[in-house]
Amino acid sequence: MINGISTMADSLHVAIIMDGNGRWANERNLPRSAGHHAGIRSLRETVEVAVQRQIHTLTLYAFSSDNWQRPHSEVQALMRILAAQLPAQAAHCVRQNIRLSVIGRRDRLPAPVLQALIRAEARTIHGSALHLRLALDYSARDSLTRAAEHVGSNGNGDFMHALMRAYNADCPVPDVDLLIRTGGEQRLSDFLLWECAYAELYFTAEYWPDFNGMKLDEALAAFQKRQRRYGAVPVG
Ligand code: FPP
Repeated sequence: MINGISTMADSLHVAIIMDGNGRWANERNLPRSAGHHAGIRSLRETVEVAVQRQIHTLTLYAFSSDNWQRPHSEVQALMRILAAQLPAQAAHCVRQNIRLSVIGRRDRLPAPVLQALIRAEARTIHGSALHLRLALDYSARDSLTRAAEHVGSNGNGDFMHALMRAYNADCPVPDVDLLIRTGGEQRLSDFLLWECAYAELYFTAEYWPDFNGMKLDEALAAFQKRQRRYGAVPVG
């Protein structure tokens, strides 16, 4: 037990839709980019607690393929944050023995982001305390469509590998057990649709910059009370 929360089973996969940065900033009369900057502190704290709770995989939705439709200035600000933060986060991951990898399309990312993510992945490849995955230019539907096309054209049935290839995952990970979304909205927004088939969903009203390790513990405590049946009838 740590902080009243038992450490998690080896293979637990938690995924988070980090929503509400823009509203957090608006409420403070700040530019939306200030909300994204503030979100980095939450990200760090969440990762730290995920390691302490022995979560196996943590996948964070940092930029969806639909986010390209945002105003150019906001997209630019987000890409700058990513290019600056990836090396800093990688250094932190090395210290914490965390493996950092990025899923999603790579062909549309600005060169500095692409270079930073390739370096971050290489530096942290041996991390074993947590597999931290950032979803960048990610769309579950796009990945599923491309995986289906690949399997169809190759005539073999290895759909999971085709799906991993479609979003550039370099190793298989367990299905999502717990999906958390901050910011009060209750939807999946094209995130890990296949992998969330039996995920427990947890929606919380806090904006992402107000999320922290304690809030992650609350979500994990709620998750531990859920009865997972996978479509079957409980035994006994
Ligand atoms: C959603 O809030 C948040 C994002 C689109 C970006 C999340 C990115 C970060 C927290 C920084 C990432 C940094 C690294 C290193 C991964 P929103 O803008 O949709 O907020 P709103 O719903 O209030 O408008």
